[in-house]
Amino acid sequence: MNDIKRIGVLTSGGDCSGLNTAIRAITFAAVNKGWEVFGIHNATDGLFVRPMRYQKLTMSDFEFPFAIMGGTMLGTNNSGNAHIQERADGTVEELNDEQLLQRFKEGVQELGLSALVVIGGDGSMAIVSRYCQKAGISMIGIPKTIDNDAPATEMAIGFATARTVVMDALDKLDTTAASHHRVMIVEVMGRGAGHLALESGIAGYADVVLIPEIPYTYEGIVNRLLETQRNGRKHGLVVVAEGIKTPEGRNCFSANGKTYGGVSEYFAERLQKDGFNVRANILGHIQRSGSPVAGDRILASRFAVHAINLLSEGKNNRVVALKDGHITDFDLGYVLKVSNSPVDPNSEMVKVAKTLGIYVGEI
Ligand code: F6P
Repeated sequence: MNDIKRIGVLTSGGDCSGLNTAIRAITFAAVNKGWEVFGIHNATDGLFVRPMRYQKLTMSDFEFPFAIMGGTMLGTNNSGNAHIQERADGTVEELNDEQLLQRFKEGVQELGLSALVVIGGDGSMAIVSRYCQKAGISMIGIPKTIDNDAPATEMAIGFATARTVVMDALDKLDTTAASHHRVMIVEVMGRGAGHLALESGIAGYADVVLIPEIPYTYEGIVNRLLETQRNGRKHGLVVVAEGIKTPEGRNCFSANGKTYGGVSEYFAERLQKDGFNVRANILGHIQRSGSPVAGDRILASRFAVHAINLLSEGKNNRVVALKDGHITDFDLGYVLKVSNSPVDPNSEMVKVAKTLGIYVGEI
């Protein structure tokens, strides 16, 4: 037990659906223990900038509509550069490491925080944990990512909704593909991991699913599409994870030069030249949006309740996780040591796809 009176909560990294559910559940569980909750705006930036940006969170903040919306009501930041801070009047100031730490310490002191709950990736947790340590407060991490490759957990917040968004898109694209006897190439997010492409491809009845973890051949794709046509289906659905390489070994990047994007265009062009009627669709950031599905709302609620229980037991530097279907927690040091979890090419999920006749490449 401990003497917690006030905690902070923040979201960090790319947004996804289910973050507001997690913020809501943190607030409800903490308030029911008699604690106060402060939501820090724009990841840790809310503590670095002056005046600070935060809000006191109460149960009534979630009556409508935040908890059923995608995004994060607290704002977030995935630029990875805390040194440049924009003040409320639009002017910019540059802060060095020492100043950032000083601002952080002042911030948690002014708000009277004993702990911070970080809903983000393991990288964000590691950074915030160092600040928390120096400021003498506890940190608990809750994993989120639509890529579902967070270390040490079987599922992260955001994945279930993104998977449904992609499945819905595939259902919609299937009817227009069927009407025009076309092959639809559908490019799905996931960075270096293929979980989103693979699981949504199974759910959306794709003919081909290409993921970064499994090598493929262009001929393999063509053969699968021709076989589909021979079987009487004159259209096709090809799901490509954004992080796959072209057969020449090249990754494709978005206009920003940083994030993956555009590999579907490569296949559209090549298949078109080879006689297929093709259209490419890059689903993009819609995959990070939408009202969270039940799976994400339940996972976010379970993670949040566990996080609050850890704090009331006096725990620090723990990351909540789903393991064998149960909610548990790991030391942050351990989580940082185990690498991100890509798709296992020998997993049951891959075997299911193959058994159903989906071309997932060759191992
Ligand atoms: O990691 C989540 C993710 O959505 C990836 O799937 C995607 O490649 C990337 O973030 C996009 O990042 P940004 O929001 O910077 O465009």
